[in-house]
Amino acid sequence: MNRKILVTSALPYANGSIHLGHLVEYIQTDIWVRFQKMQGNTCHYVCADDTHGTPIMLRAEKEGITPEQLIDRVWHEHKADFDGFHVEFDHYGSTNSNETKEYSQAIYRKLRAAGLIEVRSVEQFYDPVKEMFLPDRFIKGECPKCHAKDQYGDNCESCGTTYAPTELINPYSAVSGAQPERRNSEHYFFKLSDPRCQKFLREWTRGGSLQPEAANKMQEWLGAESENKLSDWDISRDAPYFGFEIPDAPGKYFYVWLDAPVGYMGSFKQFCDREIKEGRPINFDEFWLPQSQSESGMDARRQGGGDADIPVGRLGAADAANNADAPSVAATELYHFIGKDILYFHALFWPAMLQHADFRTPTKLFAHGFLTVNGEKMSKSRGTFITAGSYLEQGLNPEYLRYYYASKLNGTMEDIDLSLEDFVAKVNSDLIGKYINIASRCAPFITKYFNGQLAADLEQPGSANGLLKSVWAARLQLESYYETREYSHAIRLIMRLADSINIYIAEQAPWARAKEGGEYLNPSHEFSVQKSCSISLEAFRVLSIYLSPILPILTKFVADFLNVPSSKWEHASSTFSLHGATIKPYQHLMTRIDQKQIDAMIEANKESLVPAPDSHSPARHAEAQQHAIAPIAETISIDEFSKVDLRVARIVNAEHVEGAEKLLKLTLDIGEEKPRTVFAGIKAAYDPEKLKGRMTVMVANLAPRKMKFGLSEGMVLAASGETPGLFILSPDDGAQPGMRIK
Ligand code: MSP
Ligand code: ZN
Repeated sequence: MNRKILVTSALPYANGSIHLGHLVEYIQTDIWVRFQKMQGNTCHYVCADDTHGTPIMLRAEKEGITPEQLIDRVWHEHKADFDGFHVEFDHYGSTNSNETKEYSQAIYRKLRAAGLIEVRSVEQFYDPVKEMFLPDRFIKGECPKCHAKDQYGDNCESCGTTYAPTELINPYSAVSGAQPERRNSEHYFFKLSDPRCQKFLREWTRGGSLQPEAANKMQEWLGAESENKLSDWDISRDAPYFGFEIPDAPGKYFYVWLDAPVGYMGSFKQFCDREIKEGRPINFDEFWLPQSQSESGMDARRQGGGDADIPVGRLGAADAANNADAPSVAATELYHFIGKDILYFHALFWPAMLQHADFRTPTKLFAHGFLTVNGEKMSKSRGTFITAGSYLEQGLNPEYLRYYYASKLNGTMEDIDLSLEDFVAKVNSDLIGKYINIASRCAPFITKYFNGQLAADLEQPGSANGLLKSVWAARLQLESYYETREYSHAIRLIMRLADSINIYIAEQAPWARAKEGGEYLNPSHEFSVQKSCSISLEAFRVLSIYLSPILPILTKFVADFLNVPSSKWEHASSTFSLHGATIKPYQHLMTRIDQKQIDAMIEANKESLVPAPDSHSPARHAEAQQHAIAPIAETISIDEFSKVDLRVARIVNAEHVEGAEKLLKLTLDIGEEKPRTVFAGIKAAYDPEKLKGRMTVMVANLAPRKMKFGLSEGMVLAASGETPGLFILSPDDGAQPGMRIK
C-alpha cells in the first residue's frame, strides 16, 4: 500500500551556522525520507529556519541590519549547507512567513475560544537602559548557592543549581550591563494545567507516539494521575520583540516557541501551493486535520470552539472532519524528527496546541541524541565545534559523514560520538575498502576481456549461488532496519555482505587467472572470470541500492556505470539482476580520506581563527557578542555632548577614606582658585601614592553630590569592560590643568 507521509526536521535557529551536531538530525531524517521515497511511498519532507526571538533581534541590531535582512542571509547559508550534504527538502521555508503567521494566529484564536488562554500579570526583570524585558539567559549575576560570579539567569554553570533569575545576587543585564528593575506586565498563558489538557496529554504520551524513553520522561513530567504537575505556559513576550503580534493584544508577541512548530505547517502550506501551481496537487488538510478515530485509539477531536477564525482553505474540510457522517480523510502519517533537548516542546506543548485547535496530532516523534566529538562536547577551543561549511571547504566528501553517521545511528535517544580517528578508519576500510573495492576489483576485467558484457547466467552451484541469494534476501531485514531508524544495524549487515563478496572474489582470484594469459585471457578461464566478476557486480548493484538512502550521489554514479536506472528499493532482487547486461567502463568512484584534511578542518574551527557565530546556544551567542563590546548608547547631538564640561585635572592629592571600601579621596587642580574634592571608586585599582601628581580627566560641571564622607565636586573618568581592571584616563604630555576637552 502506498503510504502518505509528511516528515519534518526541527527548524534550525536563524542566528547561527549549521554544524556537525545539527547534521546528525538532518542526515538521519534525509536517509529515512529517501528510503520511503525509494519504496514508492508518497513522502514530503519540509523544514524551515526558525527566525523569531530576542537573540535574533539583538544580533541584527548589533550588525546594523534589520532582522529580516539577517534571516534572509542566514537562510541562504543554511540552504547551501543542507544542499552541500545532500539533505533534500521538498521545501525549505521560514517561520517568518504569512502562512506561519496565519496558522499561529488561528491556533491561538481556537485555544482562546476553548477557554485555554489566560492573561496574568508577571513580574520580570526589565533593562531600563535597553528598555526591554530580559529573557532569563540575558540576565547574569552571582549564583545564590555557590556564589560563582557571572552566572546565567536560569542555572549556574559552576555548581549546576537551577533558580529563577530573581534569585541571582547583584543581577545585571547581559545586554547593557545595567542593573535590571523588576516590572510587571501582562502575559498570555496557554492553560496546560486545565484538566482537558492534562487528560489529553496523559493519553497522548502513552498512545505509542513516543519512544519508550521519551514516554517515560513524559510520565515524570506529568506526574501521578492525582498530581497536576503541568504548569501553564507563558506564550507572550512584550515589545520590542521580533515575532508575530498576538491578535487583539497590541504590543504583545508570540513567544518564539509558539510559532516555531507552526512553521512545520507554514512551510508545508507553501509547498502545497507551489505544487498546486505546478499541476501536482497536494491536499494540505489531508495531512493536518484529524484522522479517523481508530487511528489514534482515542477521540482525536473535540467540537470546534465557536467564534474562532479559521485559516484560509481550512473551513470546508474541517467541517467534514467534524461531521461523523462525512467520509473521513485518508490516513496520512506525520513524523517529527527532533533532538532530545526539544522533546518537551514537541511532546507536550505542540500536541496540546494542535489537539485543542482541532488539528491532527503527530503520528510519532523521533528523538535522537546529541553529537559528541572525540567523546566530548563540541568545543570551540579544541576546534571540534565544526561547521558544515568548514567541512565542505576542506573538500571532504559529504557522503563520508552520511556514511559514518548512519553507521552510528539507531532508533534511541542515546548520544552518538564522532571519533575522528574512527571516522577516517571506517570510511577508508569499510566504505572504500569493502564496498567500493568490489567494483574496482571486478569491473575492469569485464571491460578489458568481455567488452563490458556480463555473464548471461549468474547461477552457480554451491556457495556462490548462496552468496547472491543472501544478498537479495537481506532486503526485507534492511527494510525493517531503515523503517525503525536502526541504520547502524543496516550498515553492519551490508558490510557483512560486502565481506562475504570480497571473500568470494579472493577465492575466485580473477586477476590470477587473467594474468596467466597476459593481454589475452586463457580461454579455459574465460568462463570463471566472467562469471565470478558478474556475480560480484550483481552483488555490488544490490548493495548499492541498499546504500542509496545513505549515499545518494555515489550510488547514482554506480547506477550510471552499471547502466541501470536510478534505483528503486524493489530493484534489489533477482528479477532485476544484471545477467547478460553491458556495463560502462569502471571509473574511480570515491577517494580515501586523507588525515591531513581532518587536521586542517580542526585547525580552521579553532576559536582563535574563526570568530564564527555560536549557533550552539543562541542566547549565549547574542550575549557573547554583547559582551565583546557593550552596545553603543543612544545617539546624541553635538550640542548635547557639549553640555558635558570635561577638564584636564592634576591629582594634587590622593588618600584612603576611613570606612570606605571602594573610594579614594582625590584633590584635583583644574586651574581654579580652590582645588576640588572628588570621591572616586578606584581604590581596588590604584595605590593613592602612585596617583599623586598624575594628570587625568574630570567632569567639571557635574552636580555636586553629598556623600557619607563629604561633598564630591565632580567625577574622574575611567574605562572598564568585561575583563577585569579599571583604568583612569590621562591626557597626552603637555596638557595643562584646566584645559577643556572637546
Ligand atoms: N529552533 C529550535 C527548533 C524548533 S522546531 C519547531 C532549535 N534549533 S537548533 O538550531 O538549536 O537545533 C535544531 C535541531 O538540531 C534540534 O533538533 C537539535 O536537537 C539539533 N541539534 C543541535 N545541536 C545538536 C547536537 N550537538 N547533536 C545532535 N543534534 C543537535 O532547537
Ligand atoms: Zn553556583
